[in-house]
Amino acid sequence: MRRPLVAGNWKMYKTAEPAEELARSIVAQVGRDCEVVDVVLCPPFTSLQAVHEALAGTPIALGAQNMHWENEGAFTGEISPAMILTTGCTYVILGHSERRQYFAETDEQVNRKLKAALGAGLSPIVCVGETLQQREAGQIEAVVLGQVQAALQGLSESELLKIALAYEPVWAIGTGRTATPAQAEEVHSLIRTSLHQQYGEGVAGALRIQYGGSVKPENAAELFTQKNIDGGLIGGAALKADSFAAIVKAAC
Ligand code: 13P
Repeated sequence: MRRPLVAGNWKMYKTAEPAEELARSIVAQVGRDCEVVDVVLCPPFTSLQAVHEALAGTPIALGAQNMHWENEGAFTGEISPAMILTTGCTYVILGHSERRQYFAETDEQVNRKLKAALGAGLSPIVCVGETLQQREAGQIEAVVLGQVQAALQGLSESELLKIALAYEPVWAIGTGRTATPAQAEEVHSLIRTSLHQQYGEGVAGALRIQYGGSVKPENAAELFTQKNIDGGLIGGAALKADSFAAIVKAAC
């Protein structure tokens, strides 16, 4: 069985001090649930160091929300894999729909970032998902599988096994409008079937696919018990220790 992965994407919230406080409360509330679930906190870059200190000696991992594909260079405003590694990160979120939508990140860039993350020894969480317009136009499969295929292009089987995917329908992010467990499971199953066709049973059976988009303590358990849903990528509800801990518990 795949071990569930629950990650908190804090987005552009929490300066260092409140971030450290939130991380400490999460550590206290999550307790032993980490024995059966992989838990990751992804604060903004400027709070990584502080959260790393709060997580020291705990099984909760640290992740960044984005990175450049080069290790250094004249790329004003960017942060490299080598840089996030120095803050204690072991995970990185790549290709989030907010990066694609507001910062014009392309599939090709996501693929370059993914290769760089793997090269640096980071565990990437690669986000995919359709907009409402694409869903209504019947393009879910083409969009989501297209994003998966483009992101994973050129990776070896051993690299694929280090990745997690996150299916985050854009219309469900921050809207309170969660995909129903059946709607989410349908797309997760499409993704897993396509992984099976392309890479075989080993990769398809092992690769974790998280669901993201308005996950809350009230809907988490039903989502996480779907056959092809292996935990969640949590936005708003990850900013409160009690709701995040309740979501982790729902994955146990
Ligand atoms: P919400 O949980 O706030 O909908 O955000 C989901 C998300 O984008 C996580 O990456």
